[in-house]
Amino acid sequence: MIFTCQPGFVDLLAGELSARGFAPAEQGAGWVRTEGRPGGDLPDLCFPQMVLLDPVEITGDSVNGLAAKITEQFLTTAKTERFEGEWPFIFEEAAELDGLGRRVKGVEKMVQENLKKRMSRVAKLAVADKPRGVARLRGLYVFFVDFKRAYVSREAFFGGQRRMADDEQAPSRSYLKIEEAYIVLGREPGFEETVVDLGAAPGGWSYSASKRGAKIVAVDNGPLKGGAYNNYKIEHRMEDAFAFRPAAGEVFDWMFCDLVEEPHHVMTNLITPWLEGKWCRRFVINLKFGRVDPLALLRESQAADSVFGRCAVNLRIRHLYHDREEFTLVGEVRA
Ligand SMILES: C[S@@+](CC[C@H](N)C(=O)[O-])C[C@H]1O[C@@H](n2cnc3c(N)ncnc32)[C@H](O)[C@@H]1O
Repeated sequence: MIFTCQPGFVDLLAGELSARGFAPAEQGAGWVRTEGRPGGDLPDLCFPQMVLLDPVEITGDSVNGLAAKITEQFLTTAKTERFEGEWPFIFEEAAELDGLGRRVKGVEKMVQENLKKRMSRVAKLAVADKPRGVARLRGLYVFFVDFKRAYVSREAFFGGQRRMADDEQAPSRSYLKIEEAYIVLGREPGFEETVVDLGAAPGGWSYSASKRGAKIVAVDNGPLKGGAYNNYKIEHRMEDAFAFRPAAGEVFDWMFCDLVEEPHHVMTNLITPWLEGKWCRRFVINLKFGRVDPLALLRESQAADSVFGRCAVNLRIRHLYHDREEFTLVGEVRA
């Protein structure tokens, strides 16, 4: 299989894969190729953004030659297939090679033209964009590891990560992370839903929820800025997030937590009381690695006896497109 991730995080991706029984055989900037496959379903993984299932290796010296081989691979495998609606047509490449992107664009265009000639109705349904959300879909997926070698799959899995559009009024780039986290969870705050935002300043996450009409309590000693400042949907409480408690009987629809603090301290002293106490229904939590080993932190978070194992359902842990030295956990509190 081919797994893609953020370019600087490939060692963590390879480490996660090894820990889950995959055998990394080759890697480059933003990708790992594994050989063989552990039994059972694909586990829910943190670092991969796209997984090409059962890829076939294609090699060629020229744009024409590569495009012809990819087209043939598609036509052969699509012969008996019915294309009822839109399907993903995705070409990507390793991040480190100068000029590779241009070459891949050339091959992509030529494959498109080939398909228009050979299967025009099917070609019209092709969409050059990843699906929104976590999905496993048939399509055409091509990943170039260098100028002469690509892997072609007809099926891929998507972790839900994607680049988000910025907003001029958003007070921080953290705003992009929460917008992306909603897509991974498959839900976003609704009109008049309640949100507690622990470690809220300068207010990107609160602002994002306010745009959807939610009512937010933003807890942080720091100031709110931009679209979060003087926002009638946001109540700013200058308090310690670790000491903040809901009123008796109050359950927030959402708990957001984005503290720059040691992650075990956050897990033990903030997340555990919130989830065990069922003080919220859903959560989006960002844990910063700091000096902690990210793979150990991931293993601890996924363990059956962790606070998430005990108190959460539909947990998804992702290294988001917009995450840096951190990962994001989304899920629901067990009823
Ligand atoms: C990464 S920023 C949050 C960014 C925010 N999510 C946004 O979208 O703009 C981390 C915040 O955590 C706050 N913080 C750290 N420790 C805190 C504590 N004990 N109580 C409240 N806020 C805290 C910091 O003041 C800082 O504003």
